[in-house]
Amino acid sequence: MGTEPLDPAAAATAYAAPPPRGAAFDAWRDWENRDGAHGLVAAGILAANARNVQPWRFTVDDGAGRVDLYADLTRRQGALDPFDRELHVGLGCALENMVLAARARGLAPELTLLPDPGRPEHAATLRLTPGERVPSELYDAIPHRRTNRGPFRREPLPRALLDEIGALAADDPGAPALLWFADEERRARVAHLLVEATEAVVADEGQSLAGHRWYRGTDGAVERHRDGMTVDTQGMSRTMSSLGKRLPAPSRRTADRFWLRNTRSVHVATAAAFGMVTVADTDDPALRMRGGRLLQRVHLFATARGLAVGHLNMMTVRADRERELGLPPRFGKALDELVGDAGGRTLVTFRIGRPARLAGTSPRRPVATVLGADAG
Ligand SMILES: Cc1cc2nc3c(=O)[nH]c(=O)nc-3n(C[C@H](O)[C@H](O)[C@H](O)COP(=O)(O)O)c2cc1C
Repeated sequence: MGTEPLDPAAAATAYAAPPPRGAAFDAWRDWENRDGAHGLVAAGILAANARNVQPWRFTVDDGAGRVDLYADLTRRQGALDPFDRELHVGLGCALENMVLAARARGLAPELTLLPDPGRPEHAATLRLTPGERVPSELYDAIPHRRTNRGPFRREPLPRALLDEIGALAADDPGAPALLWFADEERRARVAHLLVEATEAVVADEGQSLAGHRWYRGTDGAVERHRDGMTVDTQGMSRTMSSLGKRLPAPSRRTADRFWLRNTRSVHVATAAAFGMVTVADTDDPALRMRGGRLLQRVHLFATARGLAVGHLNMMTVRADRERELGLPPRFGKALDELVGDAGGRTLVTFRIGRPARLAGTSPRRPVATVLGADAG
């Protein structure tokens, strides 16, 4: 895929990439049509979330000004996320969108994480009272943010810009932190480990199967499920994407090979820098959600500045798998070495750069489908 021609003109319009037609993408168009607490759910479901499993449910009490967020444990990733680390990060991403939406629409949100210690799937409560309208470029970026799996332009980002993004992390001790891997040597080290970790995921039958379960290879499957990984979001040119959708859906092994090849020749090869969100304890669901909020902020800020973000979590996915199966902690150790003196543990990793190609839009299940505390 790295040999496909790039389209620099597309990069200039990356912010305005329109969602395609089809009910599976309505959520990106309708998101501002609802008021009050329901409107916050409409913003929440547009958040980044691992493999687009959309691991959330919501209950809404507009009269009382309250929204509750629940983990949908029927949408776990299994061997790819054995300890629900990514699940909680995705819930945190949704919460960030909801908090931004509340403020932008004149509601003061009071957020409580894990409000019911006896019910850990009850992730958060947002209480809403009338407040000042706080518009923000992050809020405006919500419907334009996309995970970009295409090539980035081969140019470094100014250190001042990375520092500006780094300042999105709160200063207080215990808050999730943001680390950059931008100089040649550190970037190359992360790139190398990411490719090795992808090889390890692909070689692990359980993880390969868990990933393929969420692959939606045709437009019909996308409309039916409205979740998962689609052909249009794989970072290919439009021509290659439409060709891909006309061919029979690839086998698991073919899809794995495509992913590994793209990781090596596109994702890590064209990254301007890698970023990492760290927290003191990656087993703490509240810290995972706080880390997810930071990750979503970073992605929205990048979107607002015309930058592209691609999430690359194969190292942490392997570190969790090593722990689950009692394997030698190859990637667990490598991650600790990368973090080094900065302290903390790796929650998520991503690449950032200037986009060379528009990213495709991922589907979403509509608000009505994700209402109710229990999966239907
Ligand atoms: C915790 C987390 C982990 C993710 N890991 C990866 C990853 O390893 N590789 C990847 O291509 N995308 C990854 N993503 C991106 C999701 O697949 C993406 O957010 C989802 O498909 C929805 O697409 P969107 O971000 O364009 O809305 C991750 C996202 C989150 C929040």
